[in-house]
Amino acid sequence: MPLDLVVGAQWGDEGKGRIVDRLAASADLVARWGGGDNAGHSVTVGDQVHRLHLIPSGILHPHTVCLLGAGMVIHPGRLVEEICQLQAAGVDVSPARLKLSAAAHVITPAHLALDAAQEAGRGAGQLGTTRRGIGPAYTDKAARRGLRAGAMRSPEEFSRQVTDSVSGAAAASPVDHASLLPEARAAGQEYAQHAEFLLPYLADTGRLVDEALSQGKLVLGEGAQGTLLDLDHGTYPYVTSSCTTTAGALAGLGIGAQHLRQVIGVVKCFQTRVGAGPFPTELHGDLADRLRGSGDRPWDEFGTTTGRPRRIGWLDAVLLRYAHRINGFTALALTKLDILSGLDPLCLCSEYRRQAGDEAAPEVSDLERASPVYLALPGWQSDLQPARAWEELPAPARDFVLEVERQAGVPIRLISVGPERQQLVERDPR
Ligand code: IMP
Repeated sequence: MPLDLVVGAQWGDEGKGRIVDRLAASADLVARWGGGDNAGHSVTVGDQVHRLHLIPSGILHPHTVCLLGAGMVIHPGRLVEEICQLQAAGVDVSPARLKLSAAAHVITPAHLALDAAQEAGRGAGQLGTTRRGIGPAYTDKAARRGLRAGAMRSPEEFSRQVTDSVSGAAAASPVDHASLLPEARAAGQEYAQHAEFLLPYLADTGRLVDEALSQGKLVLGEGAQGTLLDLDHGTYPYVTSSCTTTAGALAGLGIGAQHLRQVIGVVKCFQTRVGAGPFPTELHGDLADRLRGSGDRPWDEFGTTTGRPRRIGWLDAVLLRYAHRINGFTALALTKLDILSGLDPLCLCSEYRRQAGDEAAPEVSDLERASPVYLALPGWQSDLQPARAWEELPAPARDFVLEVERQAGVPIRLISVGPERQQLVERDPR
């Protein structure tokens, strides 16, 4: 009967994929609830690195069924591509194992063109979107004129709707993006082909989740992006257009709160962000370069979806406590602890400084003005990657984890010390 959720506690890229991969080993159903292929989850299994954008990371365990929930926006071509890529890598992605909600919304070429044109039009004020059409697709959904995946059940009609959306897009848009649009009829035909392919994957995913829960199966919700990118509670307007938090999971999957057992917040032991927006603990120069990595290794801090270098900063406990307030974490998974090896001291932002004349420190809604106060913690030199048990971590690494736990007010139960599946330390913090 339980539903467990994995939620990003920062600005995305926390390492949710590998935590889902661990927890999916005992799950029956693994479900994405929101966002689209703006997400990028990397999971390393043996010598293979799987980069997933739409399909839940749980697909890498052969016993799971994976769902793309009603709260998602789906680019059919990218989904077909991802299915084929995984199948070529030997992963079974048959319709028996992957279900696409008929209520999920479809990203059309018009959405892609509009996303790019809107970003270009913002000039220096760009949000830094992934240009995957996410915002425009959710805009159409909210305006009740979107195209849902269930429309693929009649490929011809679906093709006509896509053709019309492209041919009408230029006239309907306040920004000039005609040159970015494909030929409307060709786009419609392409989407009809994708519809034929995806038809067997369509399902009422809400019902499947409900049935699984009532049969006592374990459903694992796989979050995308992170709390600070949430449309309502993130650093608006520098956010994505979906609900990335616990509440969004229930809405996006179509299930009640009574099933919820655990909400696992995933926190990287430093802070990163792609795209524009406030970032109080941001670092520049050598230290940022050192934490980011060169880009040669799959886990270096470059966007999985866009390849952009991520902005880097120290871990911010004020934002972590805020993420806990929004999501109600029952436990945390702390990722990439091994990356901190060799740095001394390590900084952790515990609060924001009160500004002269202010009664209180800046709120999360006012991050531009936030000036971090840091705790300086001793670092360690040894490589953490061989550690598999709490006692095998050097004392300063354990102290760092304990301080994060104390600052967050949530137990840390999982710690990742390397990119491989087994490079995780499980801990019972009683
Ligand atoms: P959009 O979701 O493409 O509209 O982008 C809006 C903002 O969210 C931009 O700052 C993106 O960089 C950011 N964003 C979207 N998806 C992800 C993700 O999976 N990881 C990190 N940042 C993301």
